[in-house]
Amino acid sequence: MAKQNIYDNETFFEDFREKRSREVNFNDCLETPILTAMLPDLTGKTVLDVGCGMGQHAKQYADLGASSVTGIDISEKMLEHARTHFSAPNITYRKLAMEDLGTLHEPFDVITSSLAFDYAEDFTALMADLYGLLKPGGTLVYSMSHPMATAWDGAYDRYTRAETGERLYANVRNYAKEGLRKVKWVVEDYEVYHRTFATIVNAMISAGFLIEECRESCALEELLAAHPDVFGGTVHRPDFVFFRCRRL
Ligand SMILES: C[S@@+](CC[C@H](N)C(=O)[O-])C[C@H]1O[C@@H](n2cnc3c(N)ncnc32)[C@H](O)[C@@H]1O
Repeated sequence: MAKQNIYDNETFFEDFREKRSREVNFNDCLETPILTAMLPDLTGKTVLDVGCGMGQHAKQYADLGASSVTGIDISEKMLEHARTHFSAPNITYRKLAMEDLGTLHEPFDVITSSLAFDYAEDFTALMADLYGLLKPGGTLVYSMSHPMATAWDGAYDRYTRAETGERLYANVRNYAKEGLRKVKWVVEDYEVYHRTFATIVNAMISAGFLIEECRESCALEELLAAHPDVFGGTVHRPDFVFFRCRRL
């Protein structure tokens, strides 16, 4: 199974760290509030955060009362940042690819993931592995790039714009063609997997999950009004999709 580790590329890592650390960024302003609203009560729960990156979410879950948080990621650079800046006595950061989740043996109460599943080549196998790692009644809550956002090949602007620069509508190409997309984004060959909304939903269903909630991102009015240049496109198409599902 192909595993890209682009976050250990110095240029890509520095660019991501800089964007992720800005006061106004898509993760903190758009993704995290929605994902947080979909979480179950974490008090006393064991949590696995897949693709934990720099550790912001793992620390958040520890602060929300989780008894333990295990953050796994393929990138040593991201884990180093997490250990340095977002540590707590009950957080363990481990270098592990999501393709190798089967090597974990203890089941978790809650599994989370923020914007990491875009990199999974076999989404159906991933959902089956996650199902197997949850205790009966356990919850999976995750976000990933919305299929309308990954239906892009990097060869054209994501939006058609007015002469003023205002975004008029989103450009989506080859939505029905699933698979690896190599696009120029910070580096020449940024790799992400595109799949349709139906494929994503059916992978959860075939794993056995009960889908409890789905959300799609759009900036709230105040955020849009305060930062139209950053979030103006979110009304034309969602950047992220979110699911909460349960192992029966
Ligand atoms: C967009 S970042 C998100 C990081 C973090 N969850 C957050 O919300 O800030 C995606 C993360 O997924 C990790 N990742 C990519 N492919 C992976 C894989 N095959 N297994 C585990 N982690 C992976 C990257 O190293 C990176 O830390």
